[in-house]
Amino acid sequence: MIDVMVISRRDEALDICSFELARADRSPLPAFSAGAHIEVQVPGESGLLRQYSLCNHPAEQHRYLIGVLDDPASRGGSSAMHQLLRAGMALRISEPRNLFPLAEHARRSLLFAGGIGITPILCMAEQLASSGADFELHYCVRARDRAAFVERLHASSFADRVFLHSDQEPGTALDALSVLAGPQPDVHLYVCGPGGFMQHVLDSARQQGWQEANLHREYFAAAPVDTSADGSFCVRIASSGQEFEIPADQTVVQVLERHGVEIAVSCEQGVCGTCLTGVLDGVPEHRDLYLTEEEQALNNQFTPCCSRAKTAMLVLDL
Ligand code: FES
Repeated sequence: MIDVMVISRRDEALDICSFELARADRSPLPAFSAGAHIEVQVPGESGLLRQYSLCNHPAEQHRYLIGVLDDPASRGGSSAMHQLLRAGMALRISEPRNLFPLAEHARRSLLFAGGIGITPILCMAEQLASSGADFELHYCVRARDRAAFVERLHASSFADRVFLHSDQEPGTALDALSVLAGPQPDVHLYVCGPGGFMQHVLDSARQQGWQEANLHREYFAAAPVDTSADGSFCVRIASSGQEFEIPADQTVVQVLERHGVEIAVSCEQGVCGTCLTGVLDGVPEHRDLYLTEEEQALNNQFTPCCSRAKTAMLVLDL
């Protein structure tokens, strides 16, 4: 983890704050690329980690900038950030990690942001603009007062390639099918935002014949899963032969941790892939958003922070 300070805090839109982070001695932070996120140890919530995309220019190393939505439907970390975090406070963060990188050698990029999903997309736009790449950015919000970083977008060198779509202004609605018409092998799509928005953009792209390899996405959170029919199952640790029962109301990670088998976790909801574990036998019931459908179908790995089993036993490559 890296010790940083909150250099400034700024209201960017209704319920959205940005926090500028730097080392206390202002020495350089680890470099990052567009689409990267950091984990933040949430103040006042011992050990709670939350992931936030970096939204400053990726050439900057003197600071990191994150945007945080105070979402009442969230799991709590972001509300604590809003309530407790002030300029001058110390904070612990991870090094940047990028699960949402720009594709190399794309001729053109189409960027789609929904709400707070603007954070990684903004960073991508900065990087693409710096390298002279061809792109356009579609930013969809419920209302203008919920659109963060609008001043920065308007003042940017790429302002003429930014299209703001507000639900409250029907004339500005995003026509995804027409924007996504005529896919090309060297044109890539990036989308980040609420699940329904992402689904709409990705479904529109597929309807227009886009290849899966050209569709890039980052989820902030998994949609709630109906767990009412969950049952128990067993896991076996291949290296030791130990077997553990996973009750309906606990995850594999929780049970193994209690028995001293540590699996590194981060998001704990199948988004980040940190806990990815090999499966040597048995069939997982995948509940993650990290693996592609093709990868899930191989059934040779799963995310034990949230995924379960379709068979009575899973043998884990641990
Ligand atoms: Fe993020 Fe399991 S901890 S996918």
